[in-house]
Amino acid sequence: MGPLVDKIALVTGASRGIGKAIAQRLATDGAFVFVHFNHGQAEAEATLGAIRDRGGQGAAIQCDLSAPDGAHVLADRLLAALRRDFSGPHFDILVNNAGIGRGARLAETTTDEFDRVVTVNLRAPFFLIQRLLPHLRDGGRIINISSMGTRAPQPHMAAYAPAKAGLEVLTRLLANEVGGRSITVNAVAPGATVTDMNPRARDPVAARAIAAATALGRVGQPQDVAAVVAAIASPDGGWITGQTIDASGGQRL
Ligand SMILES: NC(=O)c1ccc[n+]([C@@H]2O[C@H](COP(=O)([O-])OP(=O)(O)OC[C@H]3O[C@@H](n4cnc5c(N)ncnc54)[C@H](OP(=O)(O)O)[C@@H]3O)[C@@H](O)[C@H]2O)c1
Repeated sequence: MGPLVDKIALVTGASRGIGKAIAQRLATDGAFVFVHFNHGQAEAEATLGAIRDRGGQGAAIQCDLSAPDGAHVLADRLLAALRRDFSGPHFDILVNNAGIGRGARLAETTTDEFDRVVTVNLRAPFFLIQRLLPHLRDGGRIINISSMGTRAPQPHMAAYAPAKAGLEVLTRLLANEVGGRSITVNAVAPGATVTDMNPRARDPVAARAIAAATALGRVGQPQDVAAVVAAIASPDGGWITGQTIDASGGQRL
C-alpha cells in the first residue's frame, strides 16, 4: 500500500526519459497512471509493461501536443477514459512533463521552431490545466517539469528557457488560484539528466564536465527527478506549493 493508493495520475511524455521514470514511480507508489505518448507507442507500452510487472496499474493515451488543439484533444481523451473506466471524470495528479528542447541560439531560431518549442513546453500545459482543473479532485497535485535552464540559461536555450520560465510563473500564479481547494502547484527543474533529450549527459567526456560542475558529483538519472516528483505528489508534500524545486544535484550552484 503506497502513499498514492487510489489516486489517478496523468503523466505527459511518459513513453521515454524522465516522464517514463515518473510514471513508473507514481505507479509503484500506488497510483493508476495514464501514460501519455506522441510517437512512441511501443515505448509507452513498454512503460506500461514495466508498471504491470511490478503490480502497478495504468493505461496508454496518445496525443500530439505540438498541434494547436493538442491539449484539448488530450483532455477529451483522458476524460473519456475516466468516464469509461472509473466512477467519473475525476483524477488527482497532473504531471506536465512532455517537452522539447530545440538547441538553438537566438539568431538561429526560426519562427516555426519558436512556436513549436513554446507550444509543447508552455501552451500545451496551460490549456491542459485549464481544461482539466475542474476535474482535478480537491487536494490534488499539478507538477510542471521545468528546467535548470531558467536559473542558468545557456545561449542555445533561446526559446526553450523562456518557455520554461513562463511555465514557472504559471505555476506560482495557479498556486494562489487553486490553494483554496488544497490543490498544490509546483514546478520541478531538472539539471542535465541522461535521456534522449540530453545527448551530452550520455557522452562520457561531457558527462565528466557536468559532474565536475555539480555538487553531488554526477549527472542526473530520470529516477532522481521522479523521486522529487513523487515526494511532491505524496500526502507529505501537501504543504509545498508555488515553488520551483531544483532537481539537479546542485548543478552550477
Ligand atoms: N533531460 C534533461 O537533461 C532535462 C533537463 C531539464 C529539463 N528537462 C525536461 O524534462 C522533461 C522530460 O524530458 P526528457 O529529457 O525525458 O525528454 P525525452 O527523453 O526527449 O522525452 C520527451 C517526451 O516528451 C514527449 N513529447 C515530445 N514532443 C511531444 C509532442 N509534440 N506531443 C506530445 N508528447 C511529446 C515524447 O513523446 P514520444 O516519444 O512518444 O513522441 C517523450 O515521451 C521535458 O519537459 C524537458 O524539458 C530535461
